[in-house]
Amino acid sequence: MKVVAVREGEQTPTVMEKPCPEPSEGEALVRTLRVGVDGTDHEVLSGGHGGFPEGEDHLVLGHEAVGVVEDPNGTDFEAGDVVVPTIRRAPERVRSDGGASAESVAANEPNEYFARGEPDMAPDGMYHERGIVGAHGFMAEYFTSPAEYLVSLPPELADVGFLVEPLSITEKALELSYASRSTFEWDPESAIVLGNGCLGLLTLGMFEHTEGIERSYCLGRRDRPDPTIDIIEELGAEYVDSRETPVDELPEAVEPMDLVYEATGYAPHAFQTIDALAPNGVGALLGIPGSWEFEIDGGALHEEFVLHNKALIGSVNSHVRHFETAIEDLQALPDWLIDAVVTGVYGTDDLEQAFDDSNTTIKTAVELSTR
Ligand code: NAP
Ligand code: BGC
Ligand code: ZN
Repeated sequence: MKVVAVREGEQTPTVMEKPCPEPSEGEALVRTLRVGVDGTDHEVLSGGHGGFPEGEDHLVLGHEAVGVVEDPNGTDFEAGDVVVPTIRRAPERVRSDGGASAESVAANEPNEYFARGEPDMAPDGMYHERGIVGAHGFMAEYFTSPAEYLVSLPPELADVGFLVEPLSITEKALELSYASRSTFEWDPESAIVLGNGCLGLLTLGMFEHTEGIERSYCLGRRDRPDPTIDIIEELGAEYVDSRETPVDELPEAVEPMDLVYEATGYAPHAFQTIDALAPNGVGALLGIPGSWEFEIDGGALHEEFVLHNKALIGSVNSHVRHFETAIEDLQALPDWLIDAVVTGVYGTDDLEQAFDDSNTTIKTAVELSTR
């Protein structure tokens, strides 16, 4: 079968041939429809994040997938069911083609996070992420997955099912944000998304259409005309240019924010967020910037947390229940937004377009097969 992979020493995706995987007990075989591309995929390609499966010289890309069950293999699924896979797998249970090996499952208990059904809370090093770190991804004509990691999708959403995973990321971040404010009545009225990439714009769509935020903003660093600024304004939100309004000056220049959602991966934003917040506000950090040194006034920020009851939470990955709520989000988002955010769906013969990172591209997907 055809797969899209990155080879060791290269920074661009290639099409390779690999044998079709065979499902082990408890796994279904899925025919892949579409796989989305996000900022993380570009970080994986550039070598800034993730890693190859042990002993392998390539990584099959792709973590935002939607597919059709080809062979239920004794699981509760039926052939033809449309499904979305979750990303994390217990390291000791993953074999090189990304599926579980019957022998290793028998020989090894999954670590405590997986045993508790909370893989999204496993610390770095205690999980593999398909298409990102340690396990091959879903950008292949077929993939296998344990049934517990497949979420059913209404068939009418099959074409856009690759958006479920990114929406689930925001579901988890918002759950953690609300949990951190659970000792008092917290009803955020002002909120800003930092970053006008695909995660940022989908999150802004949720602020407007599922979260009921009264005043929402989105921060970027682009000149008009720009398709992302058009989307921000069409959503009824306000565009903020970080070159004119630094994040820590938001309270004076715009307004203090009850909620800040960082999706830039720009490390200074994490700390500027503390000053951007209104008293009792929360900042959710999603970026994965790597080492980045700069000066901050630690004492002033420490005091700001304490005297103004502020919180910062970090959030990564998501749980099956976040995928389930994300499906409801996808149903609630207007068609025009999905059409505007998904700037292209390409075959494996057009990887250059699918992985284009220019300002005209927001969200792309690779199509492996059709229903
Ligand atoms: P993306 O498409 O690369 O979007 C990042 C956006 O941030 C870009 O539009 C970029 O603008 C903007 N940006 C960067 N620095 C900025 C600055 N100083 N001022 C204003 N705007 C700035 O990536 P994505 O897929 O949306 O993901 C966003 C971030 O979240 C990435 O760091 C990714 O690794 C992370 N992420 C984390 C999780 C998680 O589970 N924690 C999940 C998904 C993604 P330009 O395009 O104009 O440069
Ligand atoms: C994925 C998450 C993953 C994170 C860190 C994101 O792009 O959507 O599932 O946990 O990257 O690797
Ligand atoms: Zn992602």
